[in-house]
Amino acid sequence: MPLAGAGELCIQVSASGVNRPDVLQRAGHYPAPPGASDIPGLEVAGRIVSGDVQAMQAAGLKMGDRVCALVAGGGYAAFCIAPVAQCLPVPRGLSDIEAASLPETFFTVWSNVFDRGRLAAGETLLVQGGTSGIGVTAIQLAKAMGARVIATAGSDAKCDAIRALGADHAINYKTHDFEVEVKRLTDGLGVDVILDMVAGDYVARELNCLAEDGRLVIIAVQGGVKSEINSGLVMRRRLTVTGSTLRVRPLAFKQAIAQNCLARVWPLLEAGRIKPVVHSVFSAADATQPGGSGAAAAHALMESNQHVGKIVLNWGTP
Ligand SMILES: NC(=O)c1ccc[n+]([C@@H]2O[C@H](COP(=O)([O-])OP(=O)(O)OC[C@H]3O[C@@H](n4cnc5c(N)ncnc54)[C@H](OP(=O)(O)O)[C@@H]3O)[C@@H](O)[C@H]2O)c1
Repeated sequence: MPLAGAGELCIQVSASGVNRPDVLQRAGHYPAPPGASDIPGLEVAGRIVSGDVQAMQAAGLKMGDRVCALVAGGGYAAFCIAPVAQCLPVPRGLSDIEAASLPETFFTVWSNVFDRGRLAAGETLLVQGGTSGIGVTAIQLAKAMGARVIATAGSDAKCDAIRALGADHAINYKTHDFEVEVKRLTDGLGVDVILDMVAGDYVARELNCLAEDGRLVIIAVQGGVKSEINSGLVMRRRLTVTGSTLRVRPLAFKQAIAQNCLARVWPLLEAGRIKPVVHSVFSAADATQPGGSGAAAAHALMESNQHVGKIVLNWGTP
């Protein structure tokens, strides 16, 4: 049983979200930051069973409350320690399975698309990987905030899913050149913000389809870490290239995102204007699954790239 310290609480977990960084961690490419549990899992939902009562009171939480939390590790477990500042109440009307799918992608999208990328109503966003857990969140949030959204995916079926989520346009990047398509869809003007999870040789092509004062936000390097940049274009069009990783950021930074999500995003979830997109739920303790556990089967599905949205592990109702 893990013990909660000052400013922390212990959650009896009923569901754990599965994210691509967990797959990278399992493969040895994304170690837990110092001080974090080396058990994988970056988000959970469940009930508060113990912890720092004063910190909980200050945050408007109490023992027994249903919460979802962003954690730096330790999420694939029946009990998980989380900083109080990174816990949010389960949005009214949502199950714990749905709530466990929220923190990692909503915190990441808020921080990168709206804080770093400064996406504003009336602007156009290009989301690479539109059916990823991150992508389905970015599409819905950007639409809810009044932006126009274009998203890419690797199959026509995934493009249909992107449009069903409310995106204005979907591009199958395997059959169409996204640079050509973006220019066509924007009358040659380009998009204002790009959320990129590919990098590598995508970066040069992405700079070509950014509008004046456009912002490229890189959150993953599935296509490689090395990219070529046309510096002349950056100057002429006054472009910004930025990026970030959430896991290693300090508590105060994550607390600020949590407060923004509570104030700006939770009401949209509770009103049904944004919906969690859960593709599959695996029983966490199911040893009959291929690989010997629900987590192994969940990772196998993620690595097959067949999913649209989130994959969740179910620990049963606490
Ligand atoms: N920086 C951060 O703070 C942070 C936080 C969380 C996640 N991430 C990163 O964000 C990415 C998404 O995470 P997730 O958990 O949502 O993963 P996920 O659901 O497994 O999504 C990965 C996606 O990448 C897409 N993809 C792969 N190659 C592509 C290409 N060449 N062009 C366009 N799309 C491509 C795949 O779509 P297709 O099948 O359509 O190709 C798939 O939808 C991961 O790389 C993850 O490491 C970063």
